[in-house]
Amino acid sequence: MTVQWKSLIHRMETWMVLTMMVLGLTTEAFAQEELPPRIVCYYTPSDDLLIEDLPGDLCTNIIYAFARLSIDTWEAVPGNYQDDIVEGGYKRFTSLKERYPDLRTDISVADSNMAYMARYKSRRETFIRSVINIMTTYGFDGFDIDWEFPILPIDRNNYPILVNELRAAFDAEGKGWNLTAAVPASSILIDVGYDIPKLCSSFDAVYVMGYDLRSSEEGFTDVHSPLYRRPDLDIFFYYYDNVNDAMLKWANGGCPRHKLILGVPFYGRTFTLKNPEKHGLHALAEFAVGGWYNYNQLCKSVIDDPGWVLDYDPVGLVPFAYRDTFWVGYEDQDSLKIKMEYLRNMGFGGVMNWELTTDDFSGYCGEGTWPLLNTLNDSLQNYTVIPVDTFAPGT
Ligand SMILES: *[C@@H]1O[C@H](CO)[C@@H](O)[C@H](O)[C@H]1NC(C)=O
Ligand SMILES: *[C@@H]1O[C@H](CO)[C@@H](O)[C@H](O)[C@H]1NC(C)=O
Ligand SMILES: *[C@@H]1O[C@H](CO)[C@@H](O)[C@H](O)[C@H]1NC(C)=O
Repeated sequence: MTVQWKSLIHRMETWMVLTMMVLGLTTEAFAQEELPPRIVCYYTPSDDLLIEDLPGDLCTNIIYAFARLSIDTWEAVPGNYQDDIVEGGYKRFTSLKERYPDLRTDISVADSNMAYMARYKSRRETFIRSVINIMTTYGFDGFDIDWEFPILPIDRNNYPILVNELRAAFDAEGKGWNLTAAVPASSILIDVGYDIPKLCSSFDAVYVMGYDLRSSEEGFTDVHSPLYRRPDLDIFFYYYDNVNDAMLKWANGGCPRHKLILGVPFYGRTFTLKNPEKHGLHALAEFAVGGWYNYNQLCKSVIDDPGWVLDYDPVGLVPFAYRDTFWVGYEDQDSLKIKMEYLRNMGFGGVMNWELTTDDFSGYCGEGTWPLLNTLNDSLQNYTVIPVDTFAPGT
C-alpha cells in the first residue's frame, strides 16, 4: 500500500471510531433509566399529626416545612427552635427512614427576605454553608426552596446564581442530596421571576403549585385549581391561570418533563356570596371575605351534609359546593384521579401535595385513612417516568 492509502485508511478508521464514540454517547444520553414517579408530601409540624404518624409508605419524599432565613446572619435557621431542635423535630423526622428505608426526608426554606440574601455573594455563601450544616447535622436527603416570589429583574437574575452555587456545593459534598423548589403556576409570576432553563438545569425537580390560582380577592367565586382553561370565563389575566397551561408553560419554557411535578391542594378556598341565589362559577362574592377549608373538615361538614349543594366545574374538572352565602371550591378523590391521569398522559415526573395535616389522616370521614393521598398513590401505581432531557414542545 502506498503511504496515501495507509493514511486514508487510518483517517477512515479514526473517523469510524469517532463516529462510534459519538453514537455511543448519544445512545447513552437518550437511553436513560425509567424512574418511579415522585409523590412529594409537604408537612407542617402539628400536634394533631405527629411526626411518628407520617405516612412514609405513601410518599416518596416528605418535606418538613419550613426553615427560615435569619436577617442578622443570613443563615438558614429552624422555623421553630423549640419544636425542631429542642423537641427533636428534625431528628425524629429524618429517623422515619429507619421505618421506611425508601423514604426521602427533605427540608424546605421559605422566607420573605430571600431576595436580600440572594443579592450578595457573601450572604449566599453564608446561607449555603448553613444549609449544608443543617443537612449534615440532621441527616436530611434533600433541600427545597420556597421563595415566594422573585419578582424583580434582579431577583430573576440572582435566583439561578444562588441555585447554581447550591448545586455546586451539594455536588462537592457528594452525598446525593436533592435540590428542589416550589414554583408558581401563575403565568405572570413565572414570566417576571423565573429563568426556566437555567433553574431546571440545576434543580432535580420543580414542584409547580397548581393551586391558589383564584382567591376571595377576585370578588367572584371560582375554583382555585382548575385543570383546563374555561374559554367563556378565563379572559384577560386569568387566561393562562389553570393547571394545564401552567405545566405547559414550564415544559415549553425548557424544563424537562420528568423534572416537572404537579402540585395539588388538599384544601378548598372559600368565598362569601353576595346573593345566595347566584351560586355558580363567577358569582359575585364579598371582596376578600374568605379563606381556606381543609379537606378533613370539608369531607365531613360539606360532602356529607344535605344542607350543602354539591356542584362541578365541567371544564376545570374540580368540584365546588355552596350553602346559603358559603361557597367553597376544592379537590376530592375524583378530581385528583383526573389530574393523575392527565399527569401520566403528559409524562410528568410525579405529584406534590400541600399538605399532609389537611388530608383525612384519621379516617374521620369514612373514606379510610389518607383518602386523598391514597388516591394519588393508587393512580400512579403502574406509572413510570421516562426522562427525556431534550426540549420537547407540548400540545
Ligand atoms: C404506594 O404505596 C405502596 C404501598 O405503601 C407502595 O408500595 C408504592 O410504592 C406506592 N406507590 C408509589 C407510586 O410510590
Ligand atoms: C436525587 O434526584 C435524583 C434525580 O435527579 C434521583 O435519581 C436521586 O435518587 C435523588 N436522591 C435523593 C437522595 O433524593
Ligand atoms: C396496575 O397493574 C396491575 C397488573 O397489571 C393491575 O392489576 C392493576 O389494576 C393496575 N392498577 C392501576 C391503578 O392501573
